Amino acid sequence: MSETHDFDVLVIGSGAAGLSLALMIADHANVAVFSKNKLSSGSTSWAQGGIAAVLDDRDSQESHVQDTLNAGGGLCDPDAVKFVVSQGKDAIDWLIKNGADFTKEDDPDNGAVVEGDYHLTKEGGHSFRRVIHSDDATGKEVQISLEKQVKKHPNITLFEHHMAVDLISSDRKNFKTQKCVGAYILDTKRGKIDLFRAKATALATGGASRTYLYTSNPDGSTGDGIAMAWRLGCRVANMEFNQFHPTCLYHPETRTFLLTEALRGEGAVLKLPNGKRFMDRFDERAELAPRDIVAHAIDHEMKRLGVDCLYIDISQKDDDFIKDHFPTIYKRCLKLGYDLTKEPIPIVPAAHYTCGGIMTDLDARTDVKNLYAVGEVAHTGLHGANRMASNSLLECLVFAKSAAADILKVIKREKLDTDIKPWDESRVTDSDEEVVVSHNWNELRHFMWDYVGIVRSTRRLERAARRIDMLAGEIREYYGAFRVTPDLLELRNLVTVSDLIVRSALLRTESRGLHYTLDFPEQDPDLDGRNTVLKPPRRPSSR
Ligand code: FAD
Ligand code: SIN
Repeated sequence: MSETHDFDVLVIGSGAAGLSLALMIADHANVAVFSKNKLSSGSTSWAQGGIAAVLDDRDSQESHVQDTLNAGGGLCDPDAVKFVVSQGKDAIDWLIKNGADFTKEDDPDNGAVVEGDYHLTKEGGHSFRRVIHSDDATGKEVQISLEKQVKKHPNITLFEHHMAVDLISSDRKNFKTQKCVGAYILDTKRGKIDLFRAKATALATGGASRTYLYTSNPDGSTGDGIAMAWRLGCRVANMEFNQFHPTCLYHPETRTFLLTEALRGEGAVLKLPNGKRFMDRFDERAELAPRDIVAHAIDHEMKRLGVDCLYIDISQKDDDFIKDHFPTIYKRCLKLGYDLTKEPIPIVPAAHYTCGGIMTDLDARTDVKNLYAVGEVAHTGLHGANRMASNSLLECLVFAKSAAADILKVIKREKLDTDIKPWDESRVTDSDEEVVVSHNWNELRHFMWDYVGIVRSTRRLERAARRIDMLAGEIREYYGAFRVTPDLLELRNLVTVSDLIVRSALLRTESRGLHYTLDFPEQDPDLDGRNTVLKPPRRPSSR
């Protein structure tokens, strides 16, 4: 039997964005938090390098703002950048108050040390050491401390293994005045879709890097929130800017694993198979240039030499320094037969971060009333054409705070909509063709990698668009006929997001930041400050 649940607020997603938001409103509201797998299954737990914030007196907010704008290639929204940067210290203090334990260091020779003896590291694009971290597993520390807090809050109910299928509109016919009044959620253990009604709903579902065959992301980064918001009627922006992290471990038999940018911040260099450095040929900042430049340079050199990988080398540093600062990576590499203290490690770029997303304002409001988007799912204007390292966790915290303040005002005046139909399963049966789902998953991720990757061309993008159309048709048919499963829902969302990426990429007739196309290899100054904004069809789709 399907169930109906009522809450003040639904928070869909349990990473840094979702858990912070839940904690920031829970003293004044009943909150349901959903995760389609375990609470810790999002990208947050996997974050390595740290969180960027101005904490050192020698650093300044102006410098953090300027570095972010430079990395963003002329497309950041300066107001959003200032808004986020100005709240950096408060965000870190809030995390520490909530139990996050960051790395301390009393030896200034090992990097900047700030009040409280916190060690600051450096990453690409940053002019100063301003990245606070917990060794090389910052996200795990943040996730664990936030989970501890939400688990003991009496007003927060946690729903693990609950996957949002679609958001619910108060009035599907009236696109402009509709409100979000809840969500249909699949309890993946019971196999039932329940109705959750709420006065406000926040999407904190993370990014969409699983669109690509090779990615640093966990399995759940399938762009569900972006696809759901699009179906409801929200605009999305800058979907062409998918960030590829330059240094993911290359190992033919194991899953891609990130080798943090902080390695380069602490002196690691990139090398060709012959042992020579090459980054200074591409940018005067060499290994510490922003990510789009480094990933593109690696891709260029790999193609030029016809090799499967290049190398990162930090072995010139002291063994104890490496083991102390990068214990997780050191152990993981050692298990796979590579010793970080002794030899260069093979690397390739992989899809890492979705810079575009659901368009939001400084209060994290979307185009649809009472629907918010926080974290990687959102396009806030902070990242422009290329996100600077370690600005993402900061963005999650800052927008969780502003969303919380707005949501608390909204729920005071809103009433629950009790006139919502439960999910209708009367016209569907169990599938006897699951192979369609797995086949289409693989096909999609392969051609997205081959045609919509680091180097694009109009012809490749058009090829991808034709395949997406075909897959979208098949999936629509399949979705209309069979009972939903988590794999089918993710595939449906991935196809939608892939379509948004390809359409946005075709619209950008220049190369800028993370979008590089052979047909328009130069940046077009006429497009400075121009985001790629896609509007959904006038009538939201329904099952
Ligand atoms: P996530 O942490 O990804 O959480 C998404 C949540 O949504 C999950 O709980 C998931 O289960 C849930 N969800 C998704 N779809 C549904 C659905 N349909 N129904 C219900 N629940 C759903 N950024 C930094 O700033 N610093 C770093 O050092 C850093 N390192 C990184 C290293 C790696 C390997 C990766 C992958 C990313 C890194 N990033 C880093 C980026 C950063 O970690 C993410 O952008 C950030 O954690 C996103 O947080 P989030 O809360 O928006 O989403
Ligand atoms: C890393 O540690 O290299 C990832 C940092 C980020 O994605 O911000």
